[in-house]
Amino acid sequence: MDMIKRPRRLRGSEVLRKMVRETRMDKSSLIYPLFVKEGTGIKEEIPSMPNQYRYSLDVLPEKLAELADAGVTSVMLFGIPDVKDPVGSGAYAEDGIVQKALRAAKAEVPDLYYITDVCMCEYTSHGHCGVLCGSEVNNDETLKLLAKTALSHVQAGADMVAPSDMMDGRVLAIRNTLDDNGFQNIPVMSYAVKYASAFYGPFREAAGSAPSFGDRKSYQMDFHNSREGIREAMLDVEEGADIIMVKPAMSFLDMVTKVRDVVSVPVAAYSVSGEYAMVKAAAARGWIDEERIICEMAASVYRAGAQIYLTYYAEELARFMDEGR
Ligand code: PBG
Ligand code: ZN
Repeated sequence: MDMIKRPRRLRGSEVLRKMVRETRMDKSSLIYPLFVKEGTGIKEEIPSMPNQYRYSLDVLPEKLAELADAGVTSVMLFGIPDVKDPVGSGAYAEDGIVQKALRAAKAEVPDLYYITDVCMCEYTSHGHCGVLCGSEVNNDETLKLLAKTALSHVQAGADMVAPSDMMDGRVLAIRNTLDDNGFQNIPVMSYAVKYASAFYGPFREAAGSAPSFGDRKSYQMDFHNSREGIREAMLDVEEGADIIMVKPAMSFLDMVTKVRDVVSVPVAAYSVSGEYAMVKAAAARGWIDEERIICEMAASVYRAGAQIYLTYYAEELARFMDEGR
């Protein structure tokens, strides 16, 4: 038989390649994570995350406006408080760093969509994502504080809250508290399938949130597990999660595909600090082509089945996506 099937036929020109492209990327799906801290006039670079900064509240609006100009429509705020204590009071304080940032940001750049990370680790003196009982993180006591934190974020203007602590039952606790206070329409994006991962290293340097003893393996997931991730995702949907996140992204894309096949809510993937740091480090040495790597990594996330992509490269990607890269 003569060869009549030739896959290369559809790769012959850029016009044709784009015509048959299976994954089309749109910047409206991007979320940019950023760090806010106390003080004034501060824009300090995070050592392990080149070109990512911690911003004080007076400098923040400038960055937000730049993002909006670039066509990034949404940000995820992380707070770095000045003082920490065992119960993470700064997380749910009326004048906490995220609460103040939200008020300033909403006033100055109202068109962006503001999501907040809801967790305790940046605010606790021990660096764990919940309150301790001895050396254990106490699940149910932590739920009350997480719900309080989420409510205070929403009262300060958050458009969506995203719990990242991995306590059992926190989506329901947050949902109930928001509903009881008249915030039925504020969505919850759950970091549902979140692994205990070395890829968070640079973030913990950025936020000063590394645990002072032990690790997070008693609440974040074991990276050898897959079915457990499905269970986490399904539980959070039952508890009322509006969006399910898989995190990290790159080494966990199988989970994006699996989760998306079993839940019918939108799926997000978070390309975390360590993924960013690896690309930056290799690019700085001229070992990889940074722009092309960014686009490939993004496409892999959408190809795996995510509708939403959280990445420190959101600003660059907004442009690359418009250019059809
Ligand atoms: C807080 C939180 C972390 C990240 C997002 N929310 C750190 C952690 O769980 O230790 C990681 C983000 C990143 O690495 O970019 N729990
Ligand atoms: Zn945490």
